Amino acid sequence: MDWNAKLRDDYEHFAQGLPRPLESYILETYGISLASEYAGVPIKNPFGKASGQLSLNANQVERDAEAGLGFVVLKTLIAQDKQGAQSMKAWAIPATKMAVEEIVGTREAVRGERGWTVTWKGRGWSESFEKYLNFFQDSLQIGRHSGMLVIPSVKYHLPKPGEATWRVEEYEFTTAQLYRCWQEQRNDSMPLEKDFSPTLAGDRGFSSERENILLWLREVPRLLRETSVGNTVRIGLKIFNAAFTDDFQLEMLEACAQNAARADYLIYGNRLFDPNKSYEGVRGVAYGGPDLSDRNLSVLSRWKRRMPFSATGNITTGKIAFEYLKRGATSFQMHTLLQLPDSEFEMKGSSRTERALHRLLFHPEHGFLSSLLQARKEYGWASDISIPKSARFFPSLS
Ligand SMILES: Cc1cc2nc3c(=O)[nH]c(=O)nc-3n(C[C@H](O)[C@H](O)[C@H](O)COP(=O)(O)O)c2cc1C
Repeated sequence: MDWNAKLRDDYEHFAQGLPRPLESYILETYGISLASEYAGVPIKNPFGKASGQLSLNANQVERDAEAGLGFVVLKTLIAQDKQGAQSMKAWAIPATKMAVEEIVGTREAVRGERGWTVTWKGRGWSESFEKYLNFFQDSLQIGRHSGMLVIPSVKYHLPKPGEATWRVEEYEFTTAQLYRCWQEQRNDSMPLEKDFSPTLAGDRGFSSERENILLWLREVPRLLRETSVGNTVRIGLKIFNAAFTDDFQLEMLEACAQNAARADYLIYGNRLFDPNKSYEGVRGVAYGGPDLSDRNLSVLSRWKRRMPFSATGNITTGKIAFEYLKRGATSFQMHTLLQLPDSEFEMKGSSRTERALHRLLFHPEHGFLSSLLQARKEYGWASDISIPKSARFFPSLS
């Protein structure tokens, strides 16, 4: 079989609409199973939506389910205690505007490479706690009907350098309320992303000291584990790119892996931070693009003590997703790709999510299937390729 010709045909043909069920088509045609796992929970395919402005309401989640995503991470909720107090309240502000802009790589390996970034000054969920719980419940229901995993994301209290106490009531109340919603729909453990956002990197009051960041990474899993629902939560830490060296990123990863009360999985790695760029009157913004994936991939290549992880960061092609897979990721979450202009997609009409899946999977040059088929040839694999197997295979080579 000339797989390249088959891919080219499929890419053209499916620009009208993806085959359904997507996963069965790919298994029967290419002998590739897309089934994978997120935090140890089975997912039908490894492609998901990262937490943010595109997972703020049930209509967005509904469209993603129709398009066929494997999972959706909801917008980050700012934790609160029983009385409604939020220590991270400064993050509970609404987004005003977002700008999708071209960006050029500056790191050596990607210097001059063109990509995309989204600039904005918003932060976390800005509506009420109750509204988030309703949204989570609705989303879980949508997910259950379509076989799409839905994951909440939370920003809990983090002490500043010198601050001795942790507001454990925020950890208890918020996690228990989210788990209550989960339990109504499902009887397994609830994955949860703890967001350490890139804006923390720019907030000198919070993250000017490395020791303080390492302390957060060690303490947060323990605090979550010690909540009344701690044994039924799969704890995921979404690691940010701190304003230090790549070596420090590795120290952060080590702090997660070595910890006795360690997290179950990581999400690696959230956006870079530019302290000098201004947007809409705010100095210092997060950014992505080629530098983000290059930094993430180079740090992940050096990470020896691996934990299960979901990849994020400039996943705009299946080829970049495949690079994360080679470093052990079993799922891939995107934000910027789902905001790109129409001209970036071969598929017209349909939802942005379906167009993105078409591009990620079937693109004959930079698609995910193309990379997997090439690897199958190179390594002489039998036809039953699976994502978790490949995620174990590649790191074992290094
Ligand atoms: C507009 C915007 C809003 C975001 N909001 C959140 C958020 O609320 N919580 C979070 O954990 N990550 C948030 N992120 C980070 C994304 O989830 C994602 O990890 C990051 O943008 C890297 O992926 P990308 O290169 O595909 O955009 C946001 C990103 C963007 C661009």
